[in-house]
Amino acid sequence: MQNANLKGSIVILTGAGISQESGLDTFRDTNGIWNSVRIEDVATPDAFRRDPARVQAFYNARRRQLTSGAIQPNPAHLALAHLEREWKGPVTVVTQNVDDLHERAGSGGLIHMHGELLKVRCIRCRDPFAWTDDLTTATACPDCGLVGTLRPHVVWFDELPLQMERIYQELEGCVLFVSIGTSGSVHPAAGFVQAVRQSGHARTVELNLEPSQAASLFHEGRYGPASDVVPAFVAELLG
Ligand code: APR
Repeated sequence: MQNANLKGSIVILTGAGISQESGLDTFRDTNGIWNSVRIEDVATPDAFRRDPARVQAFYNARRRQLTSGAIQPNPAHLALAHLEREWKGPVTVVTQNVDDLHERAGSGGLIHMHGELLKVRCIRCRDPFAWTDDLTTATACPDCGLVGTLRPHVVWFDELPLQMERIYQELEGCVLFVSIGTSGSVHPAAGFVQAVRQSGHARTVELNLEPSQAASLFHEGRYGPASDVVPAFVAELLG
C-alpha cells in the first residue's frame, strides 16, 4: 500500500553519490575523479581530438573496474528498483551516471543522460553498441572497418546530454521529484528541480550525503549515506 496522498509519476535524478558505496569514486569529493585527472584532458571532444589514446585509457580503466565483478549495486539502487515495481504509477530514473548499476539492480524506466560506459559508438557510422573491452586507437569499427573512429558512448563537457526532451516531459508531469547523490554543480541536471517547481506542484526532495549546492531549492532534504537514506525513503513512500 503506498502513501495514500501521493498518486502519479515519480522522477528520480541520480548522480555519482548513489554509486559511491558500491566502490565507484564520485567526481568532486575529496578523493573524487576530478581531483586526480583534469576534465580538459579526458572528458571533452577537444581532448579526444588532441590525445585519443589518453582519453581511451581513462575510460578503459573505468570500464575494467566496472566489469571486474568487485562493483555491485548497493541497497540504494535496489530500493529504487523495488519502488518501480511496487509504485502504482510510472517511476523514471534519470541518471547522470554511466555505470550499469541501476540496470543490474533491476530498474527498467531508466534514462542515461550522460551516456553509458559499457557502450561505444563509431563517429562515422553507427548507433551506440555494447562494448566491455578496452578501446584503443587501433581498434577497428566492426561495421565500417575504420580504425580510430570508435569512442566511448559518454557525453563529454561541451556536448549535449541525451534524451533531454523526454526528460523535461517527465519532469513536467511528475508529482514527486527526488534528487539522489548529486552535487548539483553540473547543468542541465542541476536545474531540473527548478523546472519541476516552475511547471507544477510536485514535491521535491533531496537525498544526499550532505546538502548540495541546490539544497535550498528543494522542499525537503534528508542527509546520510544513500544506502541508508534511500531505502528508508522508499519504505516511507510505499507506506
Ligand atoms: N551517499 C549519498 N551521497 C553521496 C555519497 C553517499 N555515499 N557519497 C557522496 N555523495 C554525494 C556528495 O556529497 C556529492 O554531493 O554525491 C555527490 C557527488 O557529486 P559529484 O561528485 O559532483 O557527482 P555528480 O553530481 O554525479 O556529477 C555530475 O559531473 O563530471 C560530471 O558527468 C559527470 O555525471 C557527472 C556530473
